[in-house]
Amino acid sequence: MTKPRALHILRPMKTLIAPSLLSSDFSCLASEISQVEAAGVSLLHLDVMDGRFVPNITFGPPLVKAVRGCTRLTLDAHLMVADPDRYLEAFVQAGADMISVHQEACTHLDRTLRRIRELGVQAGAVLNPATPVATLEHVLELCDFVLLMSVNPGFGGQRFIPQATVKVGQLAAALGRQGLKIPIEVDGGVDATNAGQLVAAGASILVAGNSVFGRPDRGAAIAALLAAAGGQS
Ligand code: DX5
Ligand code: ZN
Repeated sequence: MTKPRALHILRPMKTLIAPSLLSSDFSCLASEISQVEAAGVSLLHLDVMDGRFVPNITFGPPLVKAVRGCTRLTLDAHLMVADPDRYLEAFVQAGADMISVHQEACTHLDRTLRRIRELGVQAGAVLNPATPVATLEHVLELCDFVLLMSVNPGFGGQRFIPQATVKVGQLAAALGRQGLKIPIEVDGGVDATNAGQLVAAGASILVAGNSVFGRPDRGAAIAALLAAAGGQS
């Protein structure tokens, strides 16, 4: 078992912006990554899609390994793949620090979350917009974070589904009832118009694709999101 690499990142509950590489310019990834790193983020969100669980195909462990080679940022691998157990070890070996799997894609979610932890990285469970928060009730203690989708997964640049904010509140309440303090991450259509309500409801990691990489000045985009999230600059 390897030592967890990202624990220190997940403990503070201050708001973190996790730029999603999916919205970056793939022809110059190293430069794109260095721009958000220079802007002070600590997380980089990596969207892995297999063309089965979601309609789109993105990238796999080789690209994660290449990204690992050009940054010290915590790598947050969001696996939108069917039967993710097959790939956990490969993503850990490639350098992922956080791995999240969809409740809807796992036959034995409890086992999968335990396996991710055994591999020495942070384990996260993800819910699609239509999946109730209550479906995670019995595995919350196996999660180092929970990711709530605020769009149907598969593509960047989609419109935020407002019901996600309600689910953040429900999840925060469920965590409180169990005495757990883990970050709630939100993914999809996050921008300066909804960041404040998400953080007020209990979110502390905001994934941002288009609202960071779709802007020419990534530093200004990240600062605007943090400001909208809670008055930070
Ligand atoms: C959607 C992905 C998201 C997406 C976010 O399936 O999981 O991470 O890249 O991009 P925006 O912020 O543009 O919705
Ligand atoms: Zn994602």
